[in-house]
Amino acid sequence: MGLERDAGPRTELSRDILHQPVLVAECIDLLGAQPGKTLVDGTLGFAGHAEALLHETAPDGLLFGLDRDPQALAASAERLAPFGERAVLLHASFRELRDALKARGIDQVDGVLLDLGVSSVQLDRAERGFRFSESTAEQTPLDMRMDASQGETAADLLARASEETLTDWFRRYGELRGAARLARTIVQTRREAPLLTAADLIRLTREARVGGGRRHHPATLVFQALRIAVNDELGALEEGLASALSVLAPGGRLCVIAYHSLEDRLVKHFMRDAERGCICPPKDPICTCGREPSLRRVTRRPVRPGADEIAQNPRARSALLRAAERLAA
Ligand SMILES: C[S@@+](CC[C@H](N)C(=O)[O-])C[C@H]1O[C@@H](n2cnc3c(N)ncnc32)[C@H](O)[C@@H]1O
Repeated sequence: MGLERDAGPRTELSRDILHQPVLVAECIDLLGAQPGKTLVDGTLGFAGHAEALLHETAPDGLLFGLDRDPQALAASAERLAPFGERAVLLHASFRELRDALKARGIDQVDGVLLDLGVSSVQLDRAERGFRFSESTAEQTPLDMRMDASQGETAADLLARASEETLTDWFRRYGELRGAARLARTIVQTRREAPLLTAADLIRLTREARVGGGRRHHPATLVFQALRIAVNDELGALEEGLASALSVLAPGGRLCVIAYHSLEDRLVKHFMRDAERGCICPPKDPICTCGREPSLRRVTRRPVRPGADEIAQNPRARSALLRAAERLAA
């Protein structure tokens, strides 16, 4: 198996895989995973989907697995070692999917899977700062980077972003009521002392009296908004979808699992627009954009896990899977 770029030290994570993959049978089916296919898992995580796809494509299929997180790659390298050269792991964002494959001499593939967001293992490791818990908040750093080897942490962003930018993130990525009040409270507080731990942020969320609707604790949405901003998750998804489309062979499939409405909306619109092709205003008498349809939607509505899967894996409850097929150029 090839593992490109420094995937970091081997970790104890690989001995105790705690991430359960979601909608595995549905992904195999919708991707059309069969012997000999070349597939990409753009969000390798702990290789639950990848392992299943490698079994389905045996004996000669190839799987390219990408992840931004060196820890996830190191754990997956051990898990996928039995597949030898059939699994190629790459430390890269899926927004660079096309270039990452090109560097390996691959121009076209039969399927791309994106299982968005963070893994349970990332969530459960307090030092990554993805999840807050009242009992450990004092010790939880405001990091939230998927690739902890580079880029700005949540604490860095909270220290430097303008009040307007913070308001925009909380409003757009967290859909919070009271976004402007929270941004103002943060900017006033950081003049006295930096925000460094989850406890600091939870305290300000309370002080600013933000609201999060009926389904979520307001601090959950504040954390969600910051995580999306730290990792530019929606920007990466937009570019990643276009990159994936550009490497799909005719008849190749794109499958995306989203876990919240912001992501799912983006995927839905991308697939719908690619199916439609032309983006000229309907009142225009002739098409001037020249765009041809490039995808056919395989799922009109998102596929969701059944009650049994949700009972076994509560994280699956918010999963929304959409699939589309590349049309011949
Ligand atoms: C939900 S987990 C995937 C779990 C995986 N399907 C499995 O079976 O173990 C999402 C993974 O995608 C990675 N990730 C998120 N955004 C990414 C991006 N833009 N490029 C590459 N990896 C990304 C995260 O680091 C995380 O490991």
